[in-house]
Amino acid sequence: MNAERLYDLVLFGATGFTGGLTADYLAAHAPAQLRWALAGRNRGKLEQVRQRLAAIDARWAQLSLLTVDVEDQPAVRAMAASTRIVATTVGPYARHGEALVAACAQAGTDYLDLTGEPGFVDAMWLKYHARAVESGARLVHSCGFDSIPHDLGAWFTVQQLPSDEPLRIEGIVRVNGGFSAGTYHSAIEAFAHLRRDQRVAARRRAQDRASDQREVHSLAARIHHDRELGAWLVPLPTIDAQVVRRSARALDCYGPDFSYAHYVQIRKLSSVGILLGGVTGLLVAAQLPPTRWWLLARKRSGEGPDAGQRARSRFSVRFRGRSLGPQARSVTCEVRGGDPGYTETAKMLAESALCLAFDTLPACAGQVTTAQAMGAALVARLQRAGITFEVLDGAGARP
Ligand SMILES: NC(=O)c1ccc[n+]([C@@H]2O[C@H](COP(=O)([O-])OP(=O)(O)OC[C@H]3O[C@@H](n4cnc5c(N)ncnc54)[C@H](OP(=O)(O)O)[C@@H]3O)[C@@H](O)[C@H]2O)c1
Repeated sequence: MNAERLYDLVLFGATGFTGGLTADYLAAHAPAQLRWALAGRNRGKLEQVRQRLAAIDARWAQLSLLTVDVEDQPAVRAMAASTRIVATTVGPYARHGEALVAACAQAGTDYLDLTGEPGFVDAMWLKYHARAVESGARLVHSCGFDSIPHDLGAWFTVQQLPSDEPLRIEGIVRVNGGFSAGTYHSAIEAFAHLRRDQRVAARRRAQDRASDQREVHSLAARIHHDRELGAWLVPLPTIDAQVVRRSARALDCYGPDFSYAHYVQIRKLSSVGILLGGVTGLLVAAQLPPTRWWLLARKRSGEGPDAGQRARSRFSVRFRGRSLGPQARSVTCEVRGGDPGYTETAKMLAESALCLAFDTLPACAGQVTTAQAMGAALVARLQRAGITFEVLDGAGARP
């Protein structure tokens, strides 16, 4: 596909915190035949990134640099037309992301991002999914910690269960680590626009439901103490559960009737109170422009947890799955790795780009999830890159 394009991959946002880590990962792991380029709005910063990459591997000393500001639509379109794939870390995506999605959908260019902003993903589906289906572009959002471990972890769990019985899966996240400015700004802006995003989600549901092949639901979730884990489970309303359900609607292996619940695991009840209080405080403060601006000014773009902090950070997502039917199988799986937000996110985004560039994948186009677009091939890549996908209990359950 599009072998005549100048590049296989353009990494847009290479001067930012997560974009820089992604560039470093590609410099250390990309195969020699990858034709790639760095893009960003500031030429001087791009040259500094390229110098750093040349120190990792001298082959990259002549890497092409594309100076592109998202406000400059002709430049965004030219970038999208020059490459088979764009991976972008230019966020918050609701503020900066649309021009590139539009350009990729138009040009038939595969698009990857790191968004955890549900309103942005729904708006892009409404505006560009149909065009991308026509052009053949794969628009794959949320290729970082949001939502690869959840989406591919649920997919991996489903592979262990019968495909002809109703399936119930709970995903339980444990995580520690810091936040970058980009993540913090994206969260505040998503909080600020919750009502607008709910309206967009309702419009998408009204149109997207028509294509459902099977029953797909949320499992009823409430805060409760889990005896097996010895911890509190708090329903987690992040984008991850939406992505899992989208994969379930698209792929037959999720069976005739699929339900999913998504939790964060917290050891102490007092910490549950602190978490809920903190989120409520941010939610309220983000509604009013003066307090929102004050919050946004607390962190500067480009900041994030340092290498020492990242080395101490970990995540795991445990999946408890069962089938309801004569076979009544149950299985527990886990996905785990190091620093979720940045080190592993950079790895996940880079491996997703390499997977689209080089692997044999199912045919698909339009807005698709990581499970739909890459499934087994991306799981295999991430395993080789040190992210564990493991059956803890009930191994080999699928007959
Ligand atoms: N869901 C996840 O798992 C996950 C994990 C990590 C990050 N993220 C998301 O990734 C995004 C980036 O995070 P980050 O911490 O890397 O942020 P960051 O350090 O602030 O980087 C933002 C990048 O966007 C670029 N940029 C800003 N405005 C631009 C414009 N008008 N035109 C072109 N480029 C522009 C910046 O360029 P300059 O350097 O020139 O300013 C920089 O390269 C955020 O939305 C964050 O939520 C998600």
